Amino acid sequence: MKQLKRPKTVYVCQKCGSACPRWVGRCPECGEWGTLVEEVATPQEQKTKPFLGGDKPIPITQVKNLTTARLVTGIQEFDRIMGGGIVVGSTILIGGDPGIGKSTIVLQISHKLTQSNLKVLYISAEESVYQSKLRAERLQIDSDNLLIASETNIEVISAYIEEYKPDFVIIDSIQMVYRTEIPTAPGTVTQVRESAMALVYLCKRKGISLMLIGHVTKEGALAGPRTLEHMVDTVLYFEGDRFQSFRILRAVKNRFGSTNEIGIFEMKNEGLEEVANPSELFIAQADRKATGTVIVPALIGTRPLLIEIQALTSRSYYATPSRRVSGIDFNRMAMILAVLERRLGVPLGSQDVFVNAVGGVKVDEPAADLAVAIAVLSSYKNKPVQDGTLLLGEIGLSGEIRPVNHINNRLQESARLGFKKIVIPADNNKRLLKPEGITIISSSSLQNVVEMML
Ligand SMILES: Nc1ncnc2c1ncn2[C@@H]1O[C@H](COP(=O)(O)OP(=O)(O)OP(=O)(O)O)[C@@H](O)[C@H]1O
Ligand SMILES: [Mg+2]
Repeated sequence: MKQLKRPKTVYVCQKCGSACPRWVGRCPECGEWGTLVEEVATPQEQKTKPFLGGDKPIPITQVKNLTTARLVTGIQEFDRIMGGGIVVGSTILIGGDPGIGKSTIVLQISHKLTQSNLKVLYISAEESVYQSKLRAERLQIDSDNLLIASETNIEVISAYIEEYKPDFVIIDSIQMVYRTEIPTAPGTVTQVRESAMALVYLCKRKGISLMLIGHVTKEGALAGPRTLEHMVDTVLYFEGDRFQSFRILRAVKNRFGSTNEIGIFEMKNEGLEEVANPSELFIAQADRKATGTVIVPALIGTRPLLIEIQALTSRSYYATPSRRVSGIDFNRMAMILAVLERRLGVPLGSQDVFVNAVGGVKVDEPAADLAVAIAVLSSYKNKPVQDGTLLLGEIGLSGEIRPVNHINNRLQESARLGFKKIVIPADNNKRLLKPEGITIISSSSLQNVVEMML
């Protein structure tokens, strides 16, 4: 009789994923307390299982060209983030806060795919098929090509994939599925990694596109092992303020397209709708004569968006004044405050400074420097910016204004939304295509812009 080997146990940190041979109270890797959980080490035979058939090496010139087929969903915001559609056989991981609308968006994507006569298998591991049906009815989705099953066992799911041969598989969510040979609860580091690996291998071998939905931790990162992000081709984050109706889909990794792209949707009763005019979302409808607000034509991914930067300065009652940012890079703001203090002599050392990009969007490009600087000064001097002028430019350490990229796209978007005046860096004057109806002022010094605008 074959003797069963006792599985080797290890203790895996649920935060960083590192393994320890014995239990300790504090993870030696990340220093977190009480995060080690007993798990069974991956059986050796699984570790050595060949990925994608284990072919011998061949010259790259002899590798057959796959037609770079992409599944185009027709949801333009989504297709653009993916680099023109879902690459056939690729794996996508989509993470987001609870209730943000992950199941909704994947159901809508599935619906669009079924309309192109593709077969979609939706594995709902968190909800019963009746609950999913309720959502589908609300989203007006009905197609015989959309197969749905409420299942959590990876072996059964794999069998379904083999049997029904879908073009697209969705696992909602990866934290809820499990492999029977690993005796730990679903959602633990080992279970998530092994389950994902089994699915990724199977789908890659069969040329099926796979979408995994993942939970996020309190800190906003995808829950489970970091390796999960390495295993997949594309990582998307679905973000947004739950108190507002719009949602942002962001690519943080994409093997088949650019990252930094964002797609903007609005949550409605009938599901997520693409936002046709996103610039309007990020400009508060407030009084243009308010102090401390400046609009900048920023570039998010490849797309120009008008974003309002708001700043507030107030006298500090602490020895170290407070600096808070939201949607802006903290270090960038610290540098801008230092330039204002040293080059323009503004005594900000006694002021608490708060800077915010309206609408929960992240503006991390230096082209927004000038807008941040003038917003802070406008609040400090309690004077609004003249005529609601847009401001664009990177600030150098000596207080000079440096050129920005894609100037013409930014100008076009500004003119399209009806803005009449914009300050741009003087070095951007070459090769400028001036749109109709907007006055362009160019400047190369921060001091000069302050004198003109405030
Ligand atoms: N009748 C409705 N009208 C408008 N919006 C709704 C309606 N029902 C649900 N929603 C929206 O859908 C969201 C839930 O969507 P969904 O179930 O897709 O989220 P999820 O990210 O999959 O959540 P979970 O993490 O629980 O799986 C709700 O937060 C709400 O904003
Ligand atoms: Mg869900």
